[in-house]
Amino acid sequence: MNVKETLLGTLAESGGEYISGAMLAEKLGVSRNAVWKAVKSLETEGYSIEAVTSKGYRLSAENNRLSEKLIQAYLKTENFGKQIIIYDEINSTNTCAKEMASSGISDGIVIVADMQNSGKGRLGRNFVSPKGKGLYMSVIMRPDFDIKTASLITSATACAVAGAVENLCGHDVKIKWVNDLYMNGRKICGILTEASLGMEMRSLDYAVVGIGINVRSAEGSFSRDLRVSATSIEDETGLKIDRNRLCAEVLNSLEKYISGIENRTYIREYRNREILTGNTITANVNGNTIIAFAEGIDDNANLIIKLPDGTIRHLNSGEANLCRVID
Ligand code: BTN
Repeated sequence: MNVKETLLGTLAESGGEYISGAMLAEKLGVSRNAVWKAVKSLETEGYSIEAVTSKGYRLSAENNRLSEKLIQAYLKTENFGKQIIIYDEINSTNTCAKEMASSGISDGIVIVADMQNSGKGRLGRNFVSPKGKGLYMSVIMRPDFDIKTASLITSATACAVAGAVENLCGHDVKIKWVNDLYMNGRKICGILTEASLGMEMRSLDYAVVGIGINVRSAEGSFSRDLRVSATSIEDETGLKIDRNRLCAEVLNSLEKYISGIENRTYIREYRNREILTGNTITANVNGNTIIAFAEGIDDNANLIIKLPDGTIRHLNSGEANLCRVID
């Protein structure tokens, strides 16, 4: 490992404390001048490092440069993130991850990008992914799941990501069925799971779980429509979260939720976070938009709705929204 990489890892592991130039020099086995040069070089690569006389160096809490080394420093997983591939720009991390998965690559590998020029959303939509503003990541999974269990991956991911964001910024995160995460009534994150089934169609070959979190304020990048419904963690909390830390927290949380998915204990948390329940909603059923009442979430994370004629239905996919009251 070279001096810069070791320096980055050491700064990340210090948990935001300053480390003196002398201590860094000793740890890295180089001169203090070499430490200073490595710091300058990291800064030109886009890392934010604070240097204070008589205290030393620390990684700025506002650092916004993605790095495998920094993500690894916060990672506590056994499998997810064992290899993390970071792109400055990519069409879509999901497209890339699917290509890798179908060529047989093992699970746990994560693709992260600083921007996506063709980010994919659900139902054929695009996902606006401006440079440096979001965490755009896809995780390749090969769990030994039957189809029924595999269908829970998206809802379990929603809970996992909600918990990770909440832990880092101390602000409530809600879920809008199926998989949108909301803060203060506006969307901060979308999830797109793409799966390939085994030959007999009874089991999962692989799943690619794509997560897009709006981290930093990106006012100019969203259309007027999107500005009404979408927001970012920074806009809602004022916090400039480090995307490396967030990526690691998401992976730490995701590994726990996916490994415990079969006992469905997360469903209770999903119900507590879900915002359609108890409201009149519009839902898309077989291509038709209908008005219904959201009764709740069943044990398979389906949305239970009551139609105006009293019929109960369990929706397992599609889209539903709160009915807006027009004065
Ligand atoms: C949605 O809200 O409709 C789902 C959005 C999913 C976006 C993420 S960003 C990382 C991954 N790569 C993509 O192209 N899409 C997902």
